[in-house]
Amino acid sequence: MDFGCELERTRGVMSRSGIRIVDETHFGEDEIDRKLCRAANEAAKDLFLGNENPSKPPRMLYDGANSPEEGCSKNKKARARNDVGSAKELEQQVTRYNEQCARIEAKLPLIDCKHFDEYHLPAGRELIKEGDLVVVFESFNDLNFVYAKKDAIFSNRNGHFKHNSFIGKPYGCKIRSNNNSGLGFLYLLRPTPELWARSLPHRTQIVHELDASMIVHYLNLCPNMTVCESGTGSGAMSHAIMRSIAPRGMLHTFEFNKVRADKAKKEFEEHGLGHLVQVHHRDVCGKKSLLLQKSGEKPGEAGDEPKAGGSRDDGPNESENNGVEEDDGTGGFLIGQAKAHAIFLDLPEPWLAVPHAAHTLCPNGRICSYSPCMEQTQRTCAALRRNGFHSLRTVEARLKEFYVASVELPVPPTDLPVVLSEEASSIEKVRLANGGVLTPNQLEERADLLGQKRKGDEQESELEPKKVLCARPFAQMRGHSAFLTFATR
Ligand SMILES: C[S@@+](CC[C@H](N)C(=O)[O-])C[C@H]1O[C@@H](n2cnc3c(N)ncnc32)[C@H](O)[C@@H]1O
Repeated sequence: MDFGCELERTRGVMSRSGIRIVDETHFGEDEIDRKLCRAANEAAKDLFLGNENPSKPPRMLYDGANSPEEGCSKNKKARARNDVGSAKELEQQVTRYNEQCARIEAKLPLIDCKHFDEYHLPAGRELIKEGDLVVVFESFNDLNFVYAKKDAIFSNRNGHFKHNSFIGKPYGCKIRSNNNSGLGFLYLLRPTPELWARSLPHRTQIVHELDASMIVHYLNLCPNMTVCESGTGSGAMSHAIMRSIAPRGMLHTFEFNKVRADKAKKEFEEHGLGHLVQVHHRDVCGKKSLLLQKSGEKPGEAGDEPKAGGSRDDGPNESENNGVEEDDGTGGFLIGQAKAHAIFLDLPEPWLAVPHAAHTLCPNGRICSYSPCMEQTQRTCAALRRNGFHSLRTVEARLKEFYVASVELPVPPTDLPVVLSEEASSIEKVRLANGGVLTPNQLEERADLLGQKRKGDEQESELEPKKVLCARPFAQMRGHSAFLTFATR
């Protein structure tokens, strides 16, 4: 998955005005490219500084200590004063400018990156290459996945498919089976968080598309945010969060099951998302330390694992350390000095994590807790209020998908004259005389008579099949889902 470039891949310096100074060494040995780049840089500087005379040398971008706006007006004033500045002065300015560029570039991670539009969306790489994750569309309800590998074979009921025939093909293409005379086929899809959630190897229950979309929206996630999540589980929600905070955001995901934490970390790296996530092996509720406090032991003495109380997630916890941060049993979201813009909890006892979340969130930060049971939701809401959260809102999203298509339905002819029986026409007369009003008995009688009349019609005349556009709900509704509680710190 390609949600954004890694920092090292970004070349150039962006001013907040949106003008970009590009590092010309990026263009390698090609002299024409370098010249073009240099000319574009000069034009960009002149644009920013309002230099209408292209023959004049570039001026200072802005003073590092000031805002660009201040810098700009300061430069304009300076320009008015020194319009006929000495060559030496201009040379000094250019040197200062170059130094400043170097300083800004060194501080690139701190630059407000919202202007790097070109990195907000997936890079749009079209061709599948070796090692790439490919979502395999087998049928409407069957999605699978493979990592494209030379000489490997993907087999299903439709036939055998050689990975060699995937490599170099564009995403979205249709591949025919090697055996089965090519009758079986599949589509190779570019992975997205939604497709991945439908094809991933489930290690736990996961957050599905509908809830994920609500969560991302109501947490106000946007590019470059710092977000905390617990637990990681199968990593389905993590992918949705990462797509929203790319290209330079950071997801800290906390999981107390070591095996799951390790697997998630490996998967994120395989999907090219390692730069957007840090996996922590940690009990965010700090139940271990609570247990130790109760029993009077010191941390590290007891070997018992914290026991989760819910139904969505319990599991084994045995594996070697694999570079994932170790749990010290104290609980909380440890992310150094940083504060999180948003926190997402998918835990059996989220209320235990709420005090830690309150500590980690920045002012006005948002929290969401996902709980399948109302009792969990109630306890979480109480904990949120106790810990100073406001604007609490609990919602349940239900998915009702419709199938819209043309179908053939028998439709009675509308051009036949309606002949009413004697009784029916006498009731009709009464109805008209009463201004369209009938007593309940008369209404019942009228319905019977008209019903008989229609049955008679069906027997007499053949019903014509007609194509009509119809919308039907699907019988299967994916997505309970859970109660989603949102709040603001
Ligand atoms: C239902 S799963 C999360 C699924 C995940 N949201 C997804 O979409 O794939 C819950 C996870 O929380 C973990 N967990 C439970 N209690 C925890 C705690 N106190 N600290 C950290 N992780 C915890 C469980 O091990 C489990 O993997």
